[in-house]
Amino acid sequence: MSIKMTVIGLGYLGATHAVAMAEIGHQVIGIEPDARKLEALRAGKLPFHEPGLDTALVKAIASGNLTFQSEHDESSRSAQVHFLCVGTPQLPGSYAADTKYLHSAIEALAPFVSSDAVVAGKSTVPVGTAAELSSKLDRLSGHEVSLCWNPEFLREGTALQDSLTPDRIVIGVDTADQLSESLMRRVYQPILDGSTGATPGSIPFLVMDVATSELVKVAANSFLATKISFINAMAEIAEASGADAVRLAEAIGFDNRIGSQFLRNGIGFGGGCLPKDIRAFMARANELGVGQAVDFLADVDAVNLRRRERVVALAKRQLGELQGKRILVLGASFKPDSDDLRDSPALDVALQLKSLGADVVVHDPIALNALREQQPTLGTHDDLTSAFEGAELVILGTEWQEYKKLDPQSVSGLVRNKTIIDGRNALDYSAWQAKGWNVIALGRNLEHSE
Ligand code: UDX
Repeated sequence: MSIKMTVIGLGYLGATHAVAMAEIGHQVIGIEPDARKLEALRAGKLPFHEPGLDTALVKAIASGNLTFQSEHDESSRSAQVHFLCVGTPQLPGSYAADTKYLHSAIEALAPFVSSDAVVAGKSTVPVGTAAELSSKLDRLSGHEVSLCWNPEFLREGTALQDSLTPDRIVIGVDTADQLSESLMRRVYQPILDGSTGATPGSIPFLVMDVATSELVKVAANSFLATKISFINAMAEIAEASGADAVRLAEAIGFDNRIGSQFLRNGIGFGGGCLPKDIRAFMARANELGVGQAVDFLADVDAVNLRRRERVVALAKRQLGELQGKRILVLGASFKPDSDDLRDSPALDVALQLKSLGADVVVHDPIALNALREQQPTLGTHDDLTSAFEGAELVILGTEWQEYKKLDPQSVSGLVRNKTIIDGRNALDYSAWQAKGWNVIALGRNLEHSE
């Protein structure tokens, strides 16, 4: 049965959630104060790149299930659920998460929230945030409001699919809250029943206390970050000992207890979630007086950042003095199928090389417009093949499909040095070697790897 809801904040998380909710038949009002984003969404255009979400957005608008507003109005009063999807970025000059957008969302919502509505937080938050927001909402609205937490685990690049067929649905509810669990079950019923493609009854619907639900998200992201940094730490050992971290990952990944996912070594994790989430987790644990419990995350962060430095060191080893040397960096986004530049390892490497005087040129299949806006002084090139012209070193920073498919023959005649650093272990290196390229891959010594 269709439920009327608002989705507050239409960034990555909110826009995807709004479209997914509309797709499963709910009546969704998306609330976004940013005029540029709002205008784009109303016109059926996504303000970011996300495969498949653009067509789903157009469909949702055409169905009449999805409308957009810059702020709440009378129509919000009849909404049964209000999803909080605003960002919680890293506070400048601190590791902590900035929850100010959540607080302003609650302030704006309070005059419009009815007493039989549920507010469901989806943003990633420091444990304890929901309790703070809940008492604020009760106070400002003048009545008790059911506030639950419903963390979102979507990945950029597969966001809509992750929303429509999630691995699990987590709901954190207060013991006194009589409303949230049943309403949230109704919200997600089409997904649980299999109408979006999952086997009916196969998606776990996990109900727990609010604090645990807040922690689930940061714990999951911390675990994933730890797994990546673990294999990157092994890559450091492999580089020093002549071993091969790719073969190592393959071998340990066959152990079901370990699993093969998130064991790809390279220039490490970035994006709008993992880096800020582990830092916010450390900050919150410190506030709680148990900072030691997650001290290891400082190492996870350090290993991750060292991989970027390693690429810069390899560039220096290849080219000596970097001043004026032409370096092509393939990829700017933090991962393929996304134009998100937040904390992108590829971009960080490009900027570090530029700051050392190199003549850096960056190619990316879709993120170049965003990159030019953000880094107007960084060299960019739209055409992949001609981007290779005159390069003294090529660095693969983001494993876009078109880089993996690139025919080394087609670019061999363009460069000044046939040397490529594969920062993602993504290339068919024997094909590149066959065309005379010197391939340097993180965590492996290619002469000894086969
Ligand atoms: C992550 C979580 O996966 C998702 O559940 C959460 O909701 C948001 O944060 P996302 O940031 O979209 O999602 O990207 P993810 O696919 O997790 O990759 C994060 C980073 O790790 C990327 O920079 C990626 O290149 C890197 N990565 C991933 C590796 O370096 N090695 C791997 O083996 C896997």
